[in-house]
Amino acid sequence: MAKNSLPHEKVLRIGIAGLGTVAQGLLTLLVENAERITRQAGMPIEVVRIASRSAKPEVDVGKAVFDTNLESLLHDDVDVVVELIGGVDAARELISSALTRGKPIVTANKAVLAEHANEWFSGDAILGIEASVAGGIPIMSTLKSGLSGNRVDWLVGIINGTCNYILTAMDEQGTSFADALKEAQDLGYAEADPGFDVDGVDAAQKLALLAALAFDIPVSMDDMYIEGISGVTVEDLRYARELGFRIRHVGIARRNEEKFETRVHPSLISATNLVGDVAGVANAVIVGANAIGSILLVGPGAGGLPTASAVLSDLIEIARGTYPRLRIGQNEGIRVPVAATESRYYLNIPAADRPGVFGEIGDILRRGGISIEAVIQKREAIRKTDGESWVPIVMVTERVVEASMDDALSHLSSLESVRGQIRRIRVADFDR
Ligand code: HSE
Repeated sequence: MAKNSLPHEKVLRIGIAGLGTVAQGLLTLLVENAERITRQAGMPIEVVRIASRSAKPEVDVGKAVFDTNLESLLHDDVDVVVELIGGVDAARELISSALTRGKPIVTANKAVLAEHANEWFSGDAILGIEASVAGGIPIMSTLKSGLSGNRVDWLVGIINGTCNYILTAMDEQGTSFADALKEAQDLGYAEADPGFDVDGVDAAQKLALLAALAFDIPVSMDDMYIEGISGVTVEDLRYARELGFRIRHVGIARRNEEKFETRVHPSLISATNLVGDVAGVANAVIVGANAIGSILLVGPGAGGLPTASAVLSDLIEIARGTYPRLRIGQNEGIRVPVAATESRYYLNIPAADRPGVFGEIGDILRRGGISIEAVIQKREAIRKTDGESWVPIVMVTERVVEASMDDALSHLSSLESVRGQIRRIRVADFDR
């Protein structure tokens, strides 16, 4: 077959790496939706090979030839390889080998793409990546095709279902962090090492890919600010509600002229914004662009059938000959460090309960040019530690540059009247 040409046979022959949940979902859909897939692709899609470390006799692989060696998928009888093994090293080798041979490859693997995608998005490589971010939500084709005539200015995404599940369970049922994580694991959403979820790494990998497609910049986690959800407490979730917000873990990518900020962290989201209602393991991405204003996509961010649906959309476009060459990296993509970004902030300041403390705090904020938008201090929240009364002073500030907020926080923390760690959570605004 000539480099990256489509198969001349009237069948698209695929070889699948992996036999896990997504591979099984793909095998199911290829049978269940065979008629529609054939009509859409213009030809049947047939699994001719499967390679996986271990066989799973309980899975019906039809007429496919099974092998434990991934290299078997590079055989001439495979038109397109589908990489569903996860992990970085073996996946990188398979993707590189396939592309070197001019064989299109489709992958659901955000980790390998976040590290190595820039090596592959040049020349004529056909690398299908729809399944790598937000499972069944067609966000990649929305960015690379649907919105390709727009200037995308920003996007905000709930792109880690595990974090979203934990935060909503803590918020709505008062579930502990540990119990909520266990429930998310039972639902099959959490990574093999759930630290990748709760520390924000999984969301960061996905945001790097979303930003690359939105702005045509290289895929990069350098200069990306990454914070997980371990610092969010049930108390913060309750105060946020009182102030008219929910707390969600989000990825934010924003254009600032020709510079770009990318960050993942917990955020307060206005309860009146639809994103604030996205609960449980669901994912959501809202995209702001100059022609359309903004659009919101919500749906399953993982799982066998939803992710297989994304794999199939790439395979069908490859069969049709319409899979677009991605423009990733054509814009240099200078990054804005988080210290130069602007937000409103939620602050929870544990302060001594005595006269003058509010004034001390207000004075530091005034000197930093930071205005208070809303504040709560409750009589029933007064607590005693070592015989001394203290109380959380909770506020939302107006928009300020992060470096000024950092400076104010270091002054606040050194006040004798501040009795512990100040919690700070950024507010995600959707108006710019
Ligand atoms: N671990 C991911 C999540 C699912 O919780 O969203 C796959 O990306």
